[in-house]
Amino acid sequence: MVDFVPAQRVQALPPNFWGAMDREVLRLSAQPGARMIDVSKGNPDLPTPPHIVEAMQREVADPVHHRYPPYAGRRSLREAVVRRYRADHGVDLDPDEHVAVFHGSHEGFMAALLALVDPGTRVLLPDPGYPIYTSAVDLAGGVVVPLPLDAPAFQPDFAAVDHVDRASALVLNYPNNPTGALATRATFEQAVAFAERSGAAFVHDFAYSSLGFEGRRPLSALTVDPELSVSVEVQTLSKTYSMAGWRIGFAAGNASIIAAMRRYQSHAFSALFGATQEAAARALDGDQEVVHELVRVYERRRDLVVAGLRATGWDVSPPEGTFFVWVRLPDGGNAVEFARRLREEQRVAVAPGDGFGTRGRGWIRIGLVQDEATLQEMIERVNAFTRRN
Ligand SMILES: Cc1ncc(COP(=O)(O)O)c(C=O)c1O
Repeated sequence: MVDFVPAQRVQALPPNFWGAMDREVLRLSAQPGARMIDVSKGNPDLPTPPHIVEAMQREVADPVHHRYPPYAGRRSLREAVVRRYRADHGVDLDPDEHVAVFHGSHEGFMAALLALVDPGTRVLLPDPGYPIYTSAVDLAGGVVVPLPLDAPAFQPDFAAVDHVDRASALVLNYPNNPTGALATRATFEQAVAFAERSGAAFVHDFAYSSLGFEGRRPLSALTVDPELSVSVEVQTLSKTYSMAGWRIGFAAGNASIIAAMRRYQSHAFSALFGATQEAAARALDGDQEVVHELVRVYERRRDLVVAGLRATGWDVSPPEGTFFVWVRLPDGGNAVEFARRLREEQRVAVAPGDGFGTRGRGWIRIGLVQDEATLQEMIERVNAFTRRN
């Protein structure tokens, strides 16, 4: 049997930080003892609302979807995206020019970077940031320039990239994974100004578009660039409607970027199952009370976790959005080591901040993707661990 050496583009990909940890969690889960509580990921635990599931059940039986779907995505979904943007953000889009559909925002983001970034060109990535951003830059052959997000507000420090005169893309993500921060309008204004002066496209990952707490609606980047002169925003139904397994998302923004993304997608991924697209349109057009209820669920979980950690003396700020709590270790210690011991001694898996970039060191991320009773138990185990150390 020939042992093939992967192509250089695959060799250049960073090792999967989470893969090794997942294997450890699985190994420990198989051993006798307390059950493992895994809050290391962002995999929504709640089921998709029934009206969306029912729409899918109806659509799957329609033979129109058994044939190849259109490359550009179904117009009905693109129109639903336009209606949602108008209702939620007051942004006007053209369904043919400004919207593209993808198998989730991971793929949408990949399409954006592979369509925009030439080898050797610079891409500004938030640090800390979602790890897939680095993978996308590596696949495109670009050069990462870290854009620091510092506590407590976790807004980008554009002064740190003042020296960058040209770049192919600037990436931001709010509500922010891993820090839970919401964007200020000033942040997006500075991003647009940077893009205009450097020739970069402003790519905003809006994966947690609906998850703002205390009644705050997260800001769309397109509201500060209403002419869509430099911006594209990638969204997903994974979090807003608990549809992570369905693999459906979309991008909206600058017409030339959307055209390049669609062109890349039609070659790389072909098209998406039409029934999923129709069910997604139903989700976007349907009663948004399901979204408000979801936000209330995550907000209760957030309050429980923040209060529980504070009771044992942890210094933790409540996140403004997302379903993550981002916590600095009490002693500013090694997060990888902390996570390893917590996993082994208390059977609680948290994500060490190192996986999100240099500025994640000394931090851990707790995902609010377990029910309240499980999160309560997780807090008790973390606190027992803290008291003993
Ligand atoms: C910041 C961010 N962007 C993108 C994604 C990818 O989501 P999906 O591919 O399910 O749309 C995630 C998932 O956790 C995320 O946290």
